[in-house]
Amino acid sequence: MHDLIDIERLSNPEIENIIQSAKKFANGDIDSSVRGKTACLMFFENSTRTRCSFEIAAKKLGMNVLNFDIGSSSFSKGESVKDTFENLHFIGADVFVVRHSEEQIIDKIKNQLAFDLKFINAGDGKNSHPTQALLDFYTMREKLGDVCGKKIVIVGDVAHSRVAKSNLALLNKFGAKVHFCAPSYFMPQNTSAFDVVWHSDLKEAIVDADVVMLLRVQNERLDAETIKSAGSYSDLYKLDSATLKKYAPNAILMHPGPVNREVEITSELLDSKVGRTVLEQARNGVYVRMAILNELGGGCV
Ligand code: CP
Repeated sequence: MHDLIDIERLSNPEIENIIQSAKKFANGDIDSSVRGKTACLMFFENSTRTRCSFEIAAKKLGMNVLNFDIGSSSFSKGESVKDTFENLHFIGADVFVVRHSEEQIIDKIKNQLAFDLKFINAGDGKNSHPTQALLDFYTMREKLGDVCGKKIVIVGDVAHSRVAKSNLALLNKFGAKVHFCAPSYFMPQNTSAFDVVWHSDLKEAIVDADVVMLLRVQNERLDAETIKSAGSYSDLYKLDSATLKKYAPNAILMHPGPVNREVEITSELLDSKVGRTVLEQARNGVYVRMAILNELGGGCV
C-alpha cells in the first residue's frame, strides 16, 4: 500500500492485513515500524472521532503529530496547495491525513506535486471514507466472525453519505448481502448503479438483519428543498428499542457518528446495551488507524 484513498483500490488481502494488524494493536502488541515518523493531520472539515483517533493512534505508535491548523496557516495569504504540501514534506511530514469537502481531493492534490507523498483519506465530500468502512468492518468481524452472506442494512441519508458508499464497496468484496433503506429524498438519483437491495420502509428493511447501521442526516450538505422534506424524517425512520427488538432482535446496531439523537435513533436505544456498539466503533477506529499508519506512515522513499 502506498496511499489509502478509497476502498475500491484495496485488495482483499490488503484489507485482511489491516484487520489482522488492528487486532494485534487491540491486544496491546505495539510493534511499531513508524516510531519517530510524523503524521500531518489536515482537516479542512470538522471532525471528532476521525481526527482524534488518528492522533491517538499515531501517538500510541510513537509518531509525532502535526495538527495543521488551516485557519492560521499561510493558505490565508494565498499559498497554493502544491507549495503547502511540498513545504510540509520538507519540514518533516511523512504521511498526510486529509479530510476535505471536495470529492477526489487527494488525487487532485497528488497530480500537482513533484514528490510522491503518502496520503490517507479521512473523508472527501460525499465520496469516500475508507478508514470508517475499515473500522466498521473490524467491528462487524469482531461481533459476527464473518460477514459473508450476512444481511447488513444501512438506513438513512444515503445520497450524501461517504460512509454508506465505502461500506458498500468493502462489504461487497467480502460477500455480504447489503440493503439500503432511505426515503426518496435521501436516495441518490442513480439507485440502479448500486449493487444493493433498496427499501423505503424501515421495518420491512430490517427484518432478520444481522447489522442495522444508521446514517447521520447530513444537514450541512442538504439543499433547501431536502431540508424541508427531512423535517419529517424521524416520523418514519427514527429507530427505537421496541422496533429493533421486534424486527431484528439479533442485529448489531451501528452508527458512524456523530449521532443526531431523536432523529436517526432514540436516546433510550442509543444509551442501552445494544447502543454501546456505537462507542465500540469509535474505539476500534484507534486500532484500525494504528494499523493503517503503521503500514503507510514510514514516509516516501
Ligand atoms: N464518523 C466520523 O467520521 O466522525 P467524525 O466526523 O467526528 O470524524
